[in-house]
Amino acid sequence: MSTSTHHDTAMPVRKMDFGFSAGMPLDFFADDPVRSYLSHAYWMTMPYLEPYLMRTVRTAMQGINDPVLRAEMQAFCGQEGQHFQQHARVNRILKESNPAFSALDSIEAELEADYRRFSTDKDIGWNLAYAEAFEAMTMTLSCTQMEMRIHEDMSGPIRELFLWHITEEMEHRTVCFDACHAHGVSWWRRLQVGREARAHYLGYVGRFHAAFLRLDAERIRQKDTAEKRIERERFQAAFAKQHGLRGVFSYLPWYNPRRVTIPGLFESLRAHYSSTAVTVA
Ligand SMILES: [Fe+2]
Ligand SMILES: [Fe+2]
Repeated sequence: MSTSTHHDTAMPVRKMDFGFSAGMPLDFFADDPVRSYLSHAYWMTMPYLEPYLMRTVRTAMQGINDPVLRAEMQAFCGQEGQHFQQHARVNRILKESNPAFSALDSIEAELEADYRRFSTDKDIGWNLAYAEAFEAMTMTLSCTQMEMRIHEDMSGPIRELFLWHITEEMEHRTVCFDACHAHGVSWWRRLQVGREARAHYLGYVGRFHAAFLRLDAERIRQKDTAEKRIERERFQAAFAKQHGLRGVFSYLPWYNPRRVTIPGLFESLRAHYSSTAVTVA
């Protein structure tokens, strides 16, 4: 098997057309603005986080000779490049839906400045450890989300964006881990930087979510019901139970993303998005 065949089949770069429009449902998750805004809060980071991951992986490629890993790193950058562009489209539509959301600009600028500073001031080991911490976190969350089939409570083109993204996160789950290994980033450093990275990243997610809830408070108050609140709590409890200690496993010295159990739905979703992509490279 050639290197290019290996990466073409394992991590294809799919260009998608989800048909986003201003009229699509933005309360796409269970018609609940609070739950939907939590997803949007994660996705507000993507146009800054994912280019940072790509810069990190491209820089790391300079020190790697293994042709298979290099091809996988290239494919990783191709996939992440598509992800952030698709999320930027939805973020733009979301921000245009409410003039008050221009208040998010300052959080976005701060996040972008952080990632630019990390790229220039931190060494490649630190940046790879950050990238791997994010990749491990998102991959484990994606596994739980896919197992629970939470997309069945979602609607419209954003549901497809969500499923496509988590599918590709699983496809490229080994790349940053292997790049860390190739650059001699120790488990201890991954642990230390990883804790810092998760706190940094989730801190911004929390700020975006709080801002959405504050800036759209009146509409949320009108739409929220006792049933929605109960359903939200039920979902959060079920998710925490299903996720269990999965997130913690990625902190352990013997963690390896190759040994993670991937949900059965994964293969059919890969095939589905490859067959519905505008192009596959
Ligand atoms: Fe991504
Ligand atoms: Fe990723």
